[in-house]
Amino acid sequence: MSQITEIAPDVFKITTFIDEINLQFNQFLIRDEEPLLYHTGMRGLFPTVTEAVAKLIDPSKLRWIGFSHFEADECGSLREWQRLAPDAMAICSFVSKVVSVDDVVAERPARALEDGEVLVTGNFRFRFLQTPHVPHAWDAGHLFEENSGTLLCSDIFHQNGAVEAVTSSDIVGRFKETLIEYQKGPFANYLPYTTKTEKILSRLADLKPKIIAPMHGSTFIGDGQSAILDLAQVMKDVLA
Ligand SMILES: [Fe+2]
Ligand SMILES: [Fe+2]
Repeated sequence: MSQITEIAPDVFKITTFIDEINLQFNQFLIRDEEPLLYHTGMRGLFPTVTEAVAKLIDPSKLRWIGFSHFEADECGSLREWQRLAPDAMAICSFVSKVVSVDDVVAERPARALEDGEVLVTGNFRFRFLQTPHVPHAWDAGHLFEENSGTLLCSDIFHQNGAVEAVTSSDIVGRFKETLIEYQKGPFANYLPYTTKTEKILSRLADLKPKIIAPMHGSTFIGDGQSAILDLAQVMKDVLA
């Protein structure tokens, strides 16, 4: 069973908590002329996610499927979605498309977005930012929805636990706890800290997001610029 929360008008968060790993998986459905799903979730979550999406739109009318990087929780059920929705097209970085997505999980070729390119879905405008190795993986990128000021930020701001859907309180502290906890176990080195990390995060901070929407944990509503700059400092302290 998943929980649906409208984090901004027509921007919905779909949350499934998996007890065994103490972790939430969030997908975001943007209801527009051309509906967009951000993150498909793993293949095992496909029935749960489609059931939730069906409460918001006709799932067969889904037009765009976005994600940050090639990983099961990002795009694992892309093929299942594309079989269900005949016009659904994946949007991702050029590297994602040519290195993995088209060969492994896509029913039809993905559309590669260029850095800075804007995709208009009706009322919403998604700007694509190429962010190699942020949060992780060579092919990583992010979508920023300009009208609502929503940064779909994938594994950045990852928080463990069955946390609240939306918060205006600090989530950087929780992110720090997750990083420290993961460093001690099999998920160590979850996020790299590279020579480009600080610059990429400061570029994301310059977007001045009003809503920060991570894949794992609470959505944050507030001063996104300060939150990202604080997170950059935490990453430097814990990982550099
Ligand atoms: Fe990831
Ligand atoms: Fe993830």
